[in-house]
Amino acid sequence: MRIYKVKDYGEMSRKAANIISAQVILKPDCVLGLATGSTPVGTYRQLVEWYEKGDLDFSEVRTVNLDEYKGLPRENDQSYYYFMHENLFDKVNIKPENTNLPDGTKEDSEEECARYEALIRSMGGVDLQLLGLGHNGHIGFNEPAEDFAKETHCVDLTERTIEANKRFFASADDVPRQAYTMGIGTIMRAKKILLVVSGEDKAETVAKAFFGPVTPEVPASILQLHEDVTIVADEAALSKAPC
Ligand code: GLP
Repeated sequence: MRIYKVKDYGEMSRKAANIISAQVILKPDCVLGLATGSTPVGTYRQLVEWYEKGDLDFSEVRTVNLDEYKGLPRENDQSYYYFMHENLFDKVNIKPENTNLPDGTKEDSEEECARYEALIRSMGGVDLQLLGLGHNGHIGFNEPAEDFAKETHCVDLTERTIEANKRFFASADDVPRQAYTMGIGTIMRAKKILLVVSGEDKAETVAKAFFGPVTPEVPASILQLHEDVTIVADEAALSKAPC
């Protein structure tokens, strides 16, 4: 596990965008696993800037997103579909047909999750998976649990996640209670993983996840067992870590 300790959110975003750019330049038709949440917003902004300067070409890139709320239509501005179009897809030359997210409008969870898992496999797997980190150690929407979920599945969101995500909705009651997410197994099958984290409010989670025991109670801790993980964290996020 390589940890880049950077000064602040801006540096974190640039470093992460550099790593993603390197992937796209080395393999123009790579499969990028993408994430939502507030943390990667700056990374996407930086990628868009470099695209506009002519330094990056997304024309062959294919993407799969980690997760999507169940029950939100695409045009809802809180859907992850909307987020990805707003922050990246509509601003670069990626082909819409090369972008993929779980379909939150599909009622049949089993069918939709099996479709998504099969889709990722049919694409040859993920070359580089970008991750954020939830306050309770979740990645994607894999919440603390008794075991690690292997494949894409439907989850009941925890109160803590609903609480953390309500800032984006009119009220906590409007936050969907369920989501489709890649499983821990799906994430671990990515060839490379890049996790971005910023801010003191995540410091304890960072210390537990990357310096504590590997346990499904802190889902991100499993990343310690992956052989190609890069963490880009700012000083505040690493303030409780022994490094
Ligand atoms: C959500 C997403 C996660 C994300 C997490 C942290 O729950 N499903 O993929 O990593 O929030 O979000 P933020 O970066 O806003 O703290």
